[in-house]
This record gives sequence, C-alpha cells and structure tokens, in this order.
Amino acid sequence: MVGVESTAHTLSLGFVGEDGELFSSESALFKPEQGGIHPREAADHHSVMAPKLISSLLSRDDFSRDDIIGVSFSQGPGLGPCLRIGASVARSLSSVWKVPLIGVNHCVAHIEVGRNQTGCEDPVLLYASGGNTQVIARAGDRYRVIGETLDIGIGNMLDKFARHHDIAFPGGPEIEKLSSRWLESGKAEEYEFLQLPYGVHGTDLAFSGLLTSAISHSRNLPLEQVCFSLQEHAFASCIEVAERAMAHTGKSELLLGGGVACNGRLREMSRIMCEERGGKSFWPEKQYCIDNGTMIAELGRKEFLSGRTTPIDESSIDPSMRTDSSIISWP
Ligand code: ATP
Ligand code: FE2
Repeated sequence: MVGVESTAHTLSLGFVGEDGELFSSESALFKPEQGGIHPREAADHHSVMAPKLISSLLSRDDFSRDDIIGVSFSQGPGLGPCLRIGASVARSLSSVWKVPLIGVNHCVAHIEVGRNQTGCEDPVLLYASGGNTQVIARAGDRYRVIGETLDIGIGNMLDKFARHHDIAFPGGPEIEKLSSRWLESGKAEEYEFLQLPYGVHGTDLAFSGLLTSAISHSRNLPLEQVCFSLQEHAFASCIEVAERAMAHTGKSELLLGGGVACNGRLREMSRIMCEERGGKSFWPEKQYCIDNGTMIAELGRKEFLSGRTTPIDESSIDPSMRTDSSIISWP
C-alpha cells in the first residue's frame, strides 16, 4: 500500500507491506521564508515536489510496483489547497497503477502507525502536533476525543514562540535544545522556577495564554529559561489530561503521536507518569511521529483489509474531518 500525506507543510509518500511492514517515506517540507504557512504557497510547493518524490519512490530498491495493492491519501483534516494536491496525486497513481483508492483520516493514521510500531494494543493516545492536540481513546467502533485544545495546537504554540525570536520553522526542536541547555548549565536549580499560565480545563487544554505570557517574560529573562518553563508547563498540562483519560477509561497504555512527540522531555514525562500508575508509555520513531506517508499507507492497508475503498466520486477532501468521524472496523 502506498500512502500520500499532504495535510499541511509536508508532502510525503510512503509505503507498507501487505503484512504491515513499515518502510521509510520520501518527504518534502515546505518552510515559509517568513511568517506562518500560507496554504496556497504550501500547495504550490507540494505540486512542484510531487513528481520528484514519486521518482524517488519508484527508484528505490526496496519498492516494487507489483506489490502495491492500493493507494491511500489523507482526506482530512488539514489545509484545503494542500489536501487537494495530495488527493490528486493519489487519484492519478491509483488510476495509472489500476489499484483501489482509499481516503483516510490523518489523525487516526497517527494512532495506527504508533500501534504498529510499538506493539501497544489499546492505548490512550496523546496526539500532539502542530495543528492538533487531542487525548483520544477507542470506545467501540470509534476513536473518541476525550479532551483537546480549546485554542491553538501545542506545536503551533511552540512555532509561534520560536518565530517571535527569529527561530526558523519548525521551532519545537530548537526550543527543546534551548531548554536542555538551560538544564545542563545547572541554572534551572539556581533560578526560581518561572510560573506561567497553566491551561488545563477538565480534560481540555489551552495554550494561547501560556504563549502570550512566555513572550512577555522573554523580554526580561534569558531565552533558555523561558523555553524551559514553556516546555514544562505545556507538556505537564498534556500529561495531566492524558493521566485523567487513563484513569477514566481504565486503560494502562499511553501512546504519543504527532510531531511534538519527538520531544525527549515529553517522552520522559509520559514515562514517569505511566510508571507511577503501573502503566506503560510508548512512542514511535521520530520519522513516524512527524507527518509521513507511511502512516497514511498503514491506515489505508487496515481499511483496505477490512473491506473499505473510496470510489472516485467520494474522494473529495474534508478539511474539517474529525478524529471521531471515522468508523474503526479492525481490532
Ligand atoms: P497535524 O496535521 O497532525 O496537526 P502537523 O502538520 O502539525 O500535523 P507534524 O509533523 O505532526 O505536523 O508536527 C509538526 C510540529 O511538531 C511542529 O509544530 C514542530 O515544531 C513540532 N516538533 C517537531 N519536533 C519537535 C520537538 N523535538 N519538540 C517539540 N516540538 C517538535
Ligand atoms: Fe500530523
């Protein structure tokens, strides 16, 4: 199964074997010269890069066109112009290769690639990416959203803070480096811990107050110190909601997914929380945390094996698709 991902800044083509073996993706990341992502510019980037990524995929030794049983793509949620490019690429490949087309839910793909890679069975998922921050758990035939951000995604919050300090997109990895530097310098022990707004509302989250306050403190305090506190507050709030979800659902596994799940401190916090309550935490390799075509292929494979394909006249994109709108028909 080939998967095409194009919800936002990343265009990516990946594939999985029929038995679920994951193969790395061919990806291209759109980086705006300044400001945030303009959907039209990102879509233009994707349409320029699509032929190059297809060529790279076809020329790989581990890729065999004859083994491809279908082409899946992110049908939503995401930026309309970007989604449309990915859908067009997928429709073309499916038609040329004469294999079925399968439109899938991007958020569910983050979960399924994580389950595949880590072997966890019935986890609570902390899905922390640029545009999304959700705590999800399966109930019956859906992945239900137990809690989510009420304003911006955690990754967008980190990227906005970074942009304010002229740090290039994506800002999350650089904020992680600056935070580690603060810890390694020993100053975290020496300085008073910087208190910032903490956005937990029941099982929902909020990050915009934290962002505003962190920007304002960074005028007077070392950037490393503010980055450290920003991470501690943002991640602790996510882990608190994830723990609440585990308590409510009685599930004992926590799976991290989405680009922010690359972060070492978030992983550490999830490990500590799970150990303290006798549970276990999991996260996929970084290449499968960030947006990638392989995860779209993996979900497409599961959908296909459970009998679902997408006729061309039902393959239009859905930019506001919800995690819980997709029926889950596999174990
Ligand atoms: P979605 O469509 O699922 O919302 P996305 O378009 O935001 O996904 P992802 O690749 O899942 O794309 O996530 C990108 C985000 O991950 C960016 O905001 C980036 O700053 C953040 N990120 C990547 N690495 C790290 C890291 N080490 N620490 C914190 N954040 C990170
Ligand atoms: Fe994503």
